[in-house]
Amino acid sequence: MINQFVPKIINEIAKINTENELMNLKSKYLGKKGEFTIFTNSLKDLSIEEKKKQGPIINSIKKEIESIIADKFKSLKRLAIDKKLAEEKIDISLPSKGSSNGSIHPLSLVSEEIVKIFTQFGFEVFEGPEIESDHYNFEALNIPEDHPARDMQDTFYLGEGNLLRTHTSPMQVRIMECNNPPIKIISPGKVYRCDSDVTHTPMFHQIEGLLVDKSITFANLKGVLNEFISRFFGNSIKTRFRPSYFPFTEPSAELDIEWKDKNGSKVWMEVLGCGMVNPKVFESVNYNSKEYAGLAFGMGIERLAMIKFGITDIRYFYQNDLKFLKQF
Ligand code: PHE
Repeated sequence: MINQFVPKIINEIAKINTENELMNLKSKYLGKKGEFTIFTNSLKDLSIEEKKKQGPIINSIKKEIESIIADKFKSLKRLAIDKKLAEEKIDISLPSKGSSNGSIHPLSLVSEEIVKIFTQFGFEVFEGPEIESDHYNFEALNIPEDHPARDMQDTFYLGEGNLLRTHTSPMQVRIMECNNPPIKIISPGKVYRCDSDVTHTPMFHQIEGLLVDKSITFANLKGVLNEFISRFFGNSIKTRFRPSYFPFTEPSAELDIEWKDKNGSKVWMEVLGCGMVNPKVFESVNYNSKEYAGLAFGMGIERLAMIKFGITDIRYFYQNDLKFLKQF
């Protein structure tokens, strides 16, 4: 009778798939009211000799049953882990989501394009300091102290005669001071003014241009800038040189281009300032203004980018919003 338990249990256990079922089976046989327990309890009426004989047999069968159940527990656990691992398996052959590349900032794009056009014309590129002295930013450019033109370019003063440059024009003086004509340079860089609204920020970018040689005339100025505009904005763009005033050029002009506003109507847009180098500036760098003449121009990169791309608020350039930046 007692020998039937092991094969019966092995048979039942083979059909079990969950830990719960196994627990039930365990209590069915080994629990207080389990079949095996009841069977062994029924042997208490046996004689002492019989008990001595049967005791070890019962114990070893009980151990066998326990170890069969323990083994099944282990194998169920193993199966559960394998199942979980299979579910969590990563398919490394799936295509990836891809990584996105950064893009060049629109101001860098525009600046590089302008520099490229002028280098094709034979201009050399020089960069200068953003912290300037009063001398280079104003005095040497014929803007003495108390000159009203200083009001238009109010800036950040650093003390000891230093300030954040308000334009790239100081580079005209710096280049001429240590080179003899002919000069043919452009100078891109950051400039600063106490100004802030939809079209002005306290820091912005300019590109300065200077060409000095014998017999340079206003016609050369118009020729260089018209050619630049047609390469930058397109062949058919009309230009207009409107009289203006800068202390360091004489005569001075502002260059406008004919553009379409957002309603499609034609409007004149101011693009840059320019003029013939004022003899007073030549004096400050010891050039002979009887022998040499020069043309100069300065343009705001933000302004050119805004016109070209139809951007209405200058602050977009500095907010680093990817939705804006990715469009260029
Ligand atoms: N420096 C002038 C400005 O910032 C622009 C300019 C440059 C005008 C060179 C004439 C010649 O407004």
